[in-house]
Amino acid sequence: AMPVRIALLGCGTVGGGVYSRLAALAGQFEVIGVSVRNRERALSVGVPEGLIVQDPEALIDKPCDVVVELMGGLEPAATLVERALRARRHVVTANKALIAAKGEHLIALAAENGVRLAYSAAVGGALPALEAVARARAAGPIRSLSGVLNGTTNFILDQLASGMSWDEAVRAAQEEGYAEADPSLDLDGTDAAQKIVLLARAAFGVNLSLDEIEREGITRIDAAEIARARAEGKMIRLVASCERTADGVNARVRPQHLPQSHPLASTAGIENRLLIEPEAGAPLLIAGKGAGRWPTTESVLADLFDIRWAAQQVSSNEEVEECIA
Ligand code: HSE
Repeated sequence: AMPVRIALLGCGTVGGGVYSRLAALAGQFEVIGVSVRNRERALSVGVPEGLIVQDPEALIDKPCDVVVELMGGLEPAATLVERALRARRHVVTANKALIAAKGEHLIALAAENGVRLAYSAAVGGALPALEAVARARAAGPIRSLSGVLNGTTNFILDQLASGMSWDEAVRAAQEEGYAEADPSLDLDGTDAAQKIVLLARAAFGVNLSLDEIEREGITRIDAAEIARARAEGKMIRLVASCERTADGVNARVRPQHLPQSHPLASTAGIENRLLIEPEAGAPLLIAGKGAGRWPTTESVLADLFDIRWAAQQVSSNEEVEECIA
């Protein structure tokens, strides 16, 4: 089978990880170009000079099968993803801001053009969160979802508890590659709210807008509050949740004092957890590494392998048809 040709947009924390995994899978995938703002960062993960381009639009227009968008943020990512879908490229992205704001439109655009838009990496890093929700929904109606969906806030709360200052804790989360490019999105609950928009769409088929989600981040929490919670046997975590109600779907993000026995408690480091409660049947809890270069990279790779597998099925069907004809 021919390698799947990939145009890579962005070469930061996740983009760099994806590039190096793809370079090691050269028989299966071929990176045709990497568009970057910062050449040095691309060179430092081993992207050859000849693959580095400045113009993402020209890269998308070159013959390729999949555009992998790992720039983050709304623009220019939105315009570029639209261009890719219209040019009938499959798109794989980790961009939760984009899919939260424009998912409905982009999903329709992908369908119109007969291509896939995959964004497993946008929620929960390596955790198959959207996949688990889709499977649960296929089995029957879902009552509610709740989760610890932001690794950075776990990490910072743990650092504060062990005596680090706020500034040091945020800097450490950035150095580890956990925090968003703008870490205030982690701290004020925006990142978790974007993820719950994606999960609510998967669970209930609704398109919530970020503004309808009541949210409070962790910025008001200090070491004293964490210590008080601990003395009561509780742990503070930023919890995002949503459920169906008589008049639609409600969602919120807020810090909660969870007893140790709670299924979302005792998340350590960047671990994320998601609890899926169906209307009937047993609840499902999934857990895994939710942030950082490698967990997120693996989720992008999983989407790329799905696309490669589907492409192989199409070409082997064509071979069968030719034999029959
Ligand atoms: N900043 C995010 C987090 C990265 O800390 O969870 C993964 O989406």
